[in-house]
Amino acid sequence: MKDEVFQHLSVLPRETLEALEPRSGGVYLDMTLGGAGHASLVLEQSGPDGKLYGTDRDGDAIRAAGERLKPFEGRFEIRRCPFADVSDWLGEGTCDGVLMDLGISSPQVDWGHRGFSFMKMGNLDMRMDVGDQVTAADIVNTWSGDELIRIFRLYGEEPRARRVAQAITERRAVKPFETTLQLAECIETALGRRGDKHHPATRVFQALRMQVNDELGQLERGLVAAWKVLKEHGKLVTISFHSLEARMVKQFGNFWSLDYRAGDAMDTPALRIPKQPCARWLSRKAVKPSVEETRSNPRARSAQLRTLIKLRALPAGEEMDWRTGKRFR
Ligand SMILES: C[S@@+](CC[C@H](N)C(=O)[O-])C[C@H]1O[C@@H](n2cnc3c(N)ncnc32)[C@H](O)[C@@H]1O
Repeated sequence: MKDEVFQHLSVLPRETLEALEPRSGGVYLDMTLGGAGHASLVLEQSGPDGKLYGTDRDGDAIRAAGERLKPFEGRFEIRRCPFADVSDWLGEGTCDGVLMDLGISSPQVDWGHRGFSFMKMGNLDMRMDVGDQVTAADIVNTWSGDELIRIFRLYGEEPRARRVAQAITERRAVKPFETTLQLAECIETALGRRGDKHHPATRVFQALRMQVNDELGQLERGLVAAWKVLKEHGKLVTISFHSLEARMVKQFGNFWSLDYRAGDAMDTPALRIPKQPCARWLSRKAVKPSVEETRSNPRARSAQLRTLIKLRALPAGEEMDWRTGKRFR
């Protein structure tokens, strides 16, 4: 971390506490510590005996969180790891509540040297964990035009993905991309400024960030890990910022909330096998930030908070693939 101060305004702070209901004696896991804004609220509210485990894959976040949580010394433990690894750290059924506040922290975009921002000069990096192998520069300089089009469409919902990909492949044939601003300028030249509210590179930068960090793959494995470490009646609180993240969270929760198992690959209604649901949504609708919150923190505008209550665990040693409904040991 250079000289910058790690500043991130936590999204939906009151609503997160209302959902998690931290209490003294409770055990909580924050899988997205960031600057530990939510984590410190959880520790405050769960005093004097609540315990918090916190993880993040970003070393800058881990350092900032350690500083911020000093007043709660003895009541928290922090580890740097990706989502999927939390169940190697914490045992099955150990937590009363788990928080996943998805997406990026403000310093990741505000600090030019992290390479996430199309407005700030930096190496074209975008890795949350700087130990990971692949950077955004590797992707734009080596992936085929078709692969670029696919991720710009899928993760960025960029309607002019083909035009951007073509501009990138032509430019890199002359000189490979090294910096954020080189890419931003190339996209701006290709798409032009049509009086859009957003910079023309917004969608492509989002797509690259999601690909570099395998954000949806991480979420898929992270949800499974979070579910494992939750106790019965524990709560999984997610805050999503992207429609693909929200869809995955909903599919995951709907799967565990179902009162039947599919009897065939087509899920034919007549063949469904009744079962007791393993989860319940706290409310059908996602909680969204108030107008006041989005006014004071525009980055909160697309946030959606959902809470899933774990009603029962599967028998010891048994697991179920939430994508297919298949059980295994
Ligand atoms: C929105 S910020 C969290 C902010 C935090 N709740 C606060 O109040 O300060 C999201 C954090 O999650 C981390 N993160 C994202 N994906 C991750 C993953 N797959 N594994 C571990 N951490 C991840 C990011 O590095 C980032 O610091």
